[in-house]
Amino acid sequence: MRIQDCYNFHDFRRMARRRLPGPIFNYIDGAADDETTYRRNTAAFESCDLVPNVLRGVSEVDMSVTVMGQKLAMPVYCSPTALQRLFHHQGERAVAAAAAKYGTMFGVSSLGTVSLEEARQISSGPQVYQFYFHKDRGLNREMMARAKRAGIEVMMLTVDSITGGNRERDKRTGFAIPFRLNLAGITQFAIKPSWAINYLTHESFKLPQLESHVDMGRGAISISRYFTEMLDPALSWDDVAEMVQEWGGQFCLKGVMSAADAERAAEIGCTGVVLSNHGGRQLDGSRSAFDQLAEVVDAVGDRIDVIMDGGVQRGTHVLKALSLGAKAVGVGRYYLFPLAAAGQAGVERALELMKIEIERDMRLMGCTKISQLNRTNLRFR
Ligand code: LAC
Repeated sequence: MRIQDCYNFHDFRRMARRRLPGPIFNYIDGAADDETTYRRNTAAFESCDLVPNVLRGVSEVDMSVTVMGQKLAMPVYCSPTALQRLFHHQGERAVAAAAAKYGTMFGVSSLGTVSLEEARQISSGPQVYQFYFHKDRGLNREMMARAKRAGIEVMMLTVDSITGGNRERDKRTGFAIPFRLNLAGITQFAIKPSWAINYLTHESFKLPQLESHVDMGRGAISISRYFTEMLDPALSWDDVAEMVQEWGGQFCLKGVMSAADAERAAEIGCTGVVLSNHGGRQLDGSRSAFDQLAEVVDAVGDRIDVIMDGGVQRGTHVLKALSLGAKAVGVGRYYLFPLAAAGQAGVERALELMKIEIERDMRLMGCTKISQLNRTNLRFR
């Protein structure tokens, strides 16, 4: 299977599955508990249908949007995700370069494997910093100052990971950072030699955002334990209000789901909220961001930018979210599987396919600008 033979999310996922050791594939692919929310995220887009208009003269299509002060050439951005060099040795470098090529936003995570400064050098486009609030306040201050110095445009504080989600696939495989694997896991690495050679012949695994404060030498830690042990469950609205002041720029909360919380975010000076259930990886049974979108847009859409992520696999999913009032849409696994499958070429192919789909779908919808999409284009079943 070659990357040129991949036409959609499922093809990328299949190719990634062939290439990756089982524990790593399952870390990306898995979610919490029964993975109900993970499945629901994509299914939610099927609860409504698009109602196109015709004969509107659609030769020129402009899909650019402005979100949190950033002009994006397409309404989809690469949501920040952790541990990318584990999936492909190019990791964040590939994602930064591909996002720059397609004129869109990407982000480096606190758990990123390339430094936010290096990513900044690769892409001239808007960059997000996906911030985890640690118990260690010194680390929080340092991360914020570093992001400011590097010229990061958007601070994105994740608020749905105050404790680790119950990811049973990771428990079974023993997935942890750095690696510690149970016997089943080790066998998996042995049967995926191309991944192993690639991984072992490139620079060693690091977490440059955290290394000054977190001693990774003390043994492996699962992602769930990292959240539970390192992140501060006492994090409150007052702490965030302080952070917003200190940052003094574009600031959004990722993982807000209720209209009341979105209102509170607007009150403390956030410029955006990302409706998200963390790809179903935290609270299983949580509502999908798409299902929750209209309610939140109605509550705060005139004050702050409402963004969503979760389950997006198609151009039509994006158009449905934008029709309900989202300003932009984030993708995670949609670019991670292609990254794992083929590095930068994979991420570029994913963004290219998404761009082609959105352009085609806008034409078929009879619209030439994103601002022409609205709720009259949608009917719920
Ligand atoms: C995860 C984190 C690290 O979902 O974002 O695994």
